[in-house]
Order: sequence, then C-alpha cells, then structure tokens
Amino acid sequence: MKEEILRLLREADGYVSGQELCNRFGVSRTAVWKAINQLKDAGYEIEAQQNKGYHIKSAPDVMNEPEIKSILKTKWAGQEMMYFDTIDSTNTKAQELAEKGYPSGTLVVADQQVSGKGRRGRGWVSPSGTGIFMTLMIKPDINPNNASMLTLVAALAVAKAIKDVTQEDAKIKWPNDIVVNGKKVCGILTEMSAQFDYINHIVIGIGINVHNESFPEEISSVASSLMIEAGGKKFRRAEIIARTMLHFEKYYEIFLQTEDLSKLVGEYDELLVNKNKSVKVLDPKEPFEGKAMGITPKGELIVDTWESRKLVSSGEVSVRGIYGYV
Ligand code: BTN
Repeated sequence: MKEEILRLLREADGYVSGQELCNRFGVSRTAVWKAINQLKDAGYEIEAQQNKGYHIKSAPDVMNEPEIKSILKTKWAGQEMMYFDTIDSTNTKAQELAEKGYPSGTLVVADQQVSGKGRRGRGWVSPSGTGIFMTLMIKPDINPNNASMLTLVAALAVAKAIKDVTQEDAKIKWPNDIVVNGKKVCGILTEMSAQFDYINHIVIGIGINVHNESFPEEISSVASSLMIEAGGKKFRRAEIIARTMLHFEKYYEIFLQTEDLSKLVGEYDELLVNKNKSVKVLDPKEPFEGKAMGITPKGELIVDTWESRKLVSSGEVSVRGIYGYV
C-alpha cells in the first residue's frame, strides 16, 4: 500500500484526500494515517491539510522497493526487485535468484556492498549512502556468442538515464564505462551462465558513483561522482535507477529484434567519447594506436590505424586515450 500511496501522491496535481486513499485501498482512515506516518518516519515530507488531504513535498534519497516501484514506468524491467542495506555483491545475489527461478527482469539493489566486484578480477568500492549498486538479471533466448553486446546496451541505457536525471553530458567510453567530463562515474560488469548453445541467465551489474566526495588515491585521477561533476548537486538515486530500467527495457527489446546492435549503433556512437579520437588499444599480443571511428553492429570498436582498419572486440582488450583514460 505504501508504494501505491506514494505513486498516487506523486501523480496528483495538489492534494489527495484521506477519503480518496481509503476508497482506493478499501481501508480505514486510521490505516491510511498509519501508512502516512510510516512514510514520514522513513523521511518523506508529507503535508496534511484539513479539508484538503495529503501532499508530498519531498522524498528521501532511498532506493527501497516502495520508493523505486512508485516511480518505475517499465513493463518488466525491475518489476520484481529486492533491496538490501548491505550485501556482499548484487551480482552474486542476482545469480542466486536466477537459479532459484526468479523471472527475467529481476533487479537487485543495495546501498552498500562489502565484496563489490569489478572487471578483470578487481573490486568495486561500494560504501553506504554514496552510490548505486544494482544488478539486472535477464534470461534471454539468444545465442551466447551475442551476449557480450548486452553490456553495450546497458551502457547506453545508463548514459541516457544519467543525462535525463542530472543534465550532465554523460558519455560512453567503449565498451561500457560511463564518463562525465572525462572521468569514470559508472562501471558495468556482466556475467553469464550458459551451456554451449543456451543461456541460463545473464546478470548485468551496474555501479554508479553518485554522491562520493573523494576517491582512493590510486583511482582519483580517473574516477569521479555525479555530485562532484555537477558542482556539488545531489540527486535522487531511485530516479536514476528507474530511468535506467526504462531505457534498458526499450533498448533491449530493440536489440532482440536483430540480436545485434544494428539499430542502436547511431545512438551509441553519438555518446561514444572515443569517437574520432586517437586511442591506444592495449592488446596483450600487440598494442597499437589509431583513430576510433565508432562501433560495428556486433559492438566491436572500429579503429583506423595508419595502415588498415581494425575491429576490436571487448573482452580482455582495453582501450585508452593517447594521453590518459579517455
Ligand atoms: C568495472 O570494473 O568497471 C565494473 C564495476 C561493476 C560494479 C557493479 S556494482 C553492482 C554490481 N555488483 C558487483 O559486485 N559489481 C557490479
């Protein structure tokens, strides 16, 4: 009921009367009053005026189920969700839920991770109150060889969501880091469980630095938070999550039509921070430099070197700017 009350108060233009809430949920005035008080205790600023009813003035920066569900506009992405104040890793939890039979589209969100996982076996610093740590679990009926493209679909969704909510110029550093003003504000770790020709499930783990004030020395030259880049402004994390789910659902359905990125290349390239820039491809076999031109429908980075055009696949290869991270 709390989620529905929040949704009604948010959608209302002005006040919603206590009677309307009672009728809507078929409960007593006392029950409505109790639910409103619980919301107030949770940090919602709700004004109550005699003869008018209730009006929501502000919401706290929380990411629990009632909050996210009350603003979520998707058909399936995140409609089944679980929130944790603390967890080892949302990716690990999402894998567990997939194995227990939870449906495709299940979302796991945490305020803090104690064993957050990054790419290439690294960790992901995940302190409480600062970031978004979430994992979307999906069970696509696609060829496992095409699964790596979903990380690019997710990057597109996150970049768009950050742009919508913060108005900052979020870009994608191929294949799936999100950068603002050249600094990394989000990383994505996709993990798959598959037979040779069948996908059991994929978990797409997304870590967004939202309110961090500083970063450990080793990453401070490349990492930043949305708050730092927006000059100290704060954002509601639930809004970024809801917006990411909405964009992901849309782009994922487009991806499924062709099982590749052919219909998304244009939008992805528009946000590609490396586009038309010189890059260093750190291929363990043979590093090389060239100019990044965009991506192929398979998600490879097109790099023109002085002698030929090369297509770079993600995986173990990473790409840097000539003078630094981007
Ligand atoms: C990277 O190294 O760039 C990817 C980082 C991915 C971090 C996120 S936070 C939510 C999810 N759970 C994890 O343990 N990792 C991912």
